[in-house]
Amino acid sequence: MLENVFPTTAEIPSQWQLNGTIEQREYLVNGELKLWAGPMNDVVSPVTLNNGNGNEKNIIGSTPLLTEKESLEALDAAVLAYNNGTGEWPTMSITNRIAHVEQFLFEMKKQRTDVVKLLMWEIGKNLPDSEKEFDRTCIYIEDTIKELKSLDHRNSKFENEENIIAQIRRVPMGVALCMGPYNYPLNETFTTLIPALIMGNTVVFKPAKYGVLFIKPLLNVFKKCFPKGVINIIYGKGRETVGALMETGKIDVFAFIGTNKGASDIKKLHPKPHRLRSVLGLDAKNPAIILPDADIDLAVTEVLAGSLSFNGQRCTALKIIFVHENMSGSFIQKFTAAVAKLKIGMPWEKDVKITPLPEPGKTAFLAGLVNDAKQFGAAVVNENGGAVNDTFFYPAVLYPVNEKMRIYTEEQFGPVVPIVPYKNIDEVINYVVQSDFGQQLSIFGKDPKTIGHLIDELANQVGRININTQCQRGPDVYPFNGRKNSAEGTLSVADALRAFSIRVLIATKETTANKEIVQTIVREHQSNYLRLDYIF
Ligand code: G3H
Repeated sequence: MLENVFPTTAEIPSQWQLNGTIEQREYLVNGELKLWAGPMNDVVSPVTLNNGNGNEKNIIGSTPLLTEKESLEALDAAVLAYNNGTGEWPTMSITNRIAHVEQFLFEMKKQRTDVVKLLMWEIGKNLPDSEKEFDRTCIYIEDTIKELKSLDHRNSKFENEENIIAQIRRVPMGVALCMGPYNYPLNETFTTLIPALIMGNTVVFKPAKYGVLFIKPLLNVFKKCFPKGVINIIYGKGRETVGALMETGKIDVFAFIGTNKGASDIKKLHPKPHRLRSVLGLDAKNPAIILPDADIDLAVTEVLAGSLSFNGQRCTALKIIFVHENMSGSFIQKFTAAVAKLKIGMPWEKDVKITPLPEPGKTAFLAGLVNDAKQFGAAVVNENGGAVNDTFFYPAVLYPVNEKMRIYTEEQFGPVVPIVPYKNIDEVINYVVQSDFGQQLSIFGKDPKTIGHLIDELANQVGRININTQCQRGPDVYPFNGRKNSAEGTLSVADALRAFSIRVLIATKETTANKEIVQTIVREHQSNYLRLDYIF
């Protein structure tokens, strides 16, 4: 059924054709778009082409393989622009920093079509989801600006405790290194990059492994909208570029979305760990728990979206499904019927849900998980489940899954749905308690008493418990975090502003002379920090 899944060039709608490969040699350092003359990294699209005789690897462009030297130049530029907190950017008024970010947003919006198109080609995300990623990111930036204004309003006052008058404000941390994931290369990266910038930090940004070319249309926008050195964009292998940055000890905040192993390896390189703040979004193995009285149709709809949206490549995806044994038969029947209705195809096709996978070797990895599960007694219970054609993997529903199988604990980050039958809810609670991960979970059921009890058992295990609802990050104003190996720190529109800043207190003893000094500073606008004005 997958023989004809890939298109010939002629079959690609003209609107989505790339018209040649994109050689992207520029990188942004110190306000300058530099041209890289060294080795390049090929960008291979998950959309393999059918050349009439079979599959053909589809190289759609290339990006620079910078070395330690160029990444250290980028760091130097960020360090200089921060200038120990005395640079133009960290000392700029909030109103002016907001104006730069607003200009960036205005210019970024003009690049929507190009960015969306490249997201589809580079990571295989379908058109509505690629558009949503772009639009959600713009809304996130707007909300960040709104939240910063409201934070500023809340802080535009004086406290008076024990005769100490104080004003408390938030100021930047220093130089931030921001790295995002391939599944949300725009959104997740910008949910750290923008708060870092708007709070006055300077940034070195290294795009994800896949989802790199789409930055090209934004390079000029970054260059145009921010003072030199404030944002620096580098490309290349993590080992050569990021490792060198961390070893200098000059990174103050490390924002990273990826694996916990990757995060630990990078963090360890910092020579003064107490001077590094980390904001990390990491692995997860979010369970769905389907109680015996659950509304099956609702559970099927939510678990389908939760486990297979963007082919299961979401950190928040439901990655293991516990179903009470009394209803596992009916659940599987309805679930596999729903999976069969998911349209497969290329990202731009109408209503398509399952698309090719961007990571090289991913289909073999997933097939390995399926074969391992089969060895220990599971079967693929849906028609065509696990069928592979090059970068395309047809969703596999595995049942009955048990603790001997790799898929029981390993994160698949792809279209494999393991279903575990359980007799006693304690088996599920034990799984969650023993898990290395603690991001979210979903409970499906009707009885308030049972659900209430389960919430109490599980509230200290994860960062979010969803009732009759799939796991998800949004709405972005809600805190997004995790325990154990799933995260460090909390992100949300408001929390991210806190993550990239530290409070500074301006305080004085309440004497007539001190009050007069403070009042004069405020009245005559003598300080960017000690002030009572209102940012509209
Ligand atoms: O990959 C992790 C993303 O933050 C998930 O976001 O739940 O909105 O898809 P989402």
